[in-house]
Amino acid sequence: MSIRIKLLLSYTGMLVLSLLVFVLIAGLFTIAATGDIRDIRDFYKVHYQVNPLTEQEESIFLELKYLAKNEPDELQNQELLKEYDFKLRTVRAGLYVRREKDQVFESHTFNQPELERSLPHYDLNNNQIRHTFNIGERFYAYAKYDFRYSDGAKGSVFVIRERSPFGEVTRKLLPVLVLILIGIIVITNVLLYRWITRSVVKPLDLLRNSAEHIKEGNLQFSLDLQTKDEIGQLNEGFEDMRKRLQASIQLRLQDEENRKELISNISHDLRTPITSIKGYIEGIRDGVADTPEKMDKYVNIIYAKAVDLDKLVGELFLYSKLDSKQVPFMFEPVDIIGFLDDCIDELQFILDEKGIQLEWMERTADRVEVIADLEKLKRTVLNIIGNAQNFMDKQPKTIRVSTRISPEWVTVEIQDNGMGIPRDAIPHIFERFYRVEPSRNSSTGGSGLGLAIASQIIEGHGGTIWAESELGVGTSLFFTLKRAIN
Ligand SMILES: Nc1ncnc2c1ncn2[C@@H]1O[C@H](COP(=O)(O)OP(=O)(O)OP(=O)(O)O)[C@@H](O)[C@H]1O
Ligand SMILES: [Mg+2]
Repeated sequence: MSIRIKLLLSYTGMLVLSLLVFVLIAGLFTIAATGDIRDIRDFYKVHYQVNPLTEQEESIFLELKYLAKNEPDELQNQELLKEYDFKLRTVRAGLYVRREKDQVFESHTFNQPELERSLPHYDLNNNQIRHTFNIGERFYAYAKYDFRYSDGAKGSVFVIRERSPFGEVTRKLLPVLVLILIGIIVITNVLLYRWITRSVVKPLDLLRNSAEHIKEGNLQFSLDLQTKDEIGQLNEGFEDMRKRLQASIQLRLQDEENRKELISNISHDLRTPITSIKGYIEGIRDGVADTPEKMDKYVNIIYAKAVDLDKLVGELFLYSKLDSKQVPFMFEPVDIIGFLDDCIDELQFILDEKGIQLEWMERTADRVEVIADLEKLKRTVLNIIGNAQNFMDKQPKTIRVSTRISPEWVTVEIQDNGMGIPRDAIPHIFERFYRVEPSRNSSTGGSGLGLAIASQIIEGHGGTIWAESELGVGTSLFFTLKRAIN
């Protein structure tokens, strides 16, 4: 549920409740004051507080009072009294007239045998003309006027009205009832307040704390508020932001680490040939190469080291350019079978000399075209075959090439029966500078850039490269290329 709806509901609820309570209180007041729930419209008339008779009853009473003062004997005239009683009955009240101990007139409205005994005694000073009395559980309000008939007999005229017992009870309990109602309003308010606080303020507090954490650079926490409202969405966004921030910081740290490692690897790999070049040149300078043969040997070694250096710098340069996607690929349709034929022809002669057999394992087709950058593809194949040749350790030395053709892809496999790669090293061989043999000894393998370059090239082609190997048995390098659509 959205906060807006919650707020709307809570405030509408509060309003409706307050109004209801107000109406109830007003109703209770009326009942308490007038004794009857039907007289709500007279509630605001002030004299009701003093005199619980209605305006009409009161005016009839005044007429009767006037009559008692001026023509008291008229208050024995049954016809006249009936007329007044009729008027009073229309407003749900009744008339009672007495003379000394006798009843002159009693309205039918009352039907109460006890009435006579419950009425107040004569009080010719008329000190209290309005009051209430009860007979059993029934409550009555009255206005009374005492007078003397012309013959001196005491008389009273009463306008009496029955009040609902509920009115009396209400009047007695009014303070308690009002307190209860106010209590309800307060409790409802507190509950609504807690509801809003819990669903809005607390999550916002949590978010604020998290923002503080982030400001202090602490990203190792997680915020999981299980709400689906706007706060929940905000939290989701916030959590997303935190994760991204954390990822980017980790990436930066990783990059930093990589950069340091790269520099240390490069320095190491450059220093090794440079140190030996320096050593041999010092030898020549100090006259150690004192025969033409020695001199020849020294110069050849220096040359070979310089070539190594050149190769290393060239590879590094290529790798960094591939890595930063700065090398353009010249894609064209290449017949992969013909291309591998050419590679085999070209390399066989040199490899033969080293006692290595390079051959097709299975020449599955005559011609299959793939989309490739010829020059870079060649570099990849040479790097892979170069490795196969470098890590060869047993007779007969064979390197075998095969292809697998699917409607969309061609998979090239180059398999050797060399020393193999330990299982846990396989995932790392495509990383730059990674070598299984960690001593970085230049007699086996080079700088560890060959497969990193091959992998960049194949990825640049949209293909994948992977290795399968068994230690001591041999290694297979696979890569895929997309077929040209004819
Ligand atoms: N055919 C293979 N047989 C056994 N080990 C291999 C083979 N190919 C690669 N490796 C292992 O993977 C490592 C990484 O190969 P990669 O070609 O990237 O580097 P390198 O050959 O050592 O150096 P570079 O190719 O830069 O001269 C090698 O050092 C070697 O340990
Ligand atoms: Mg290599």
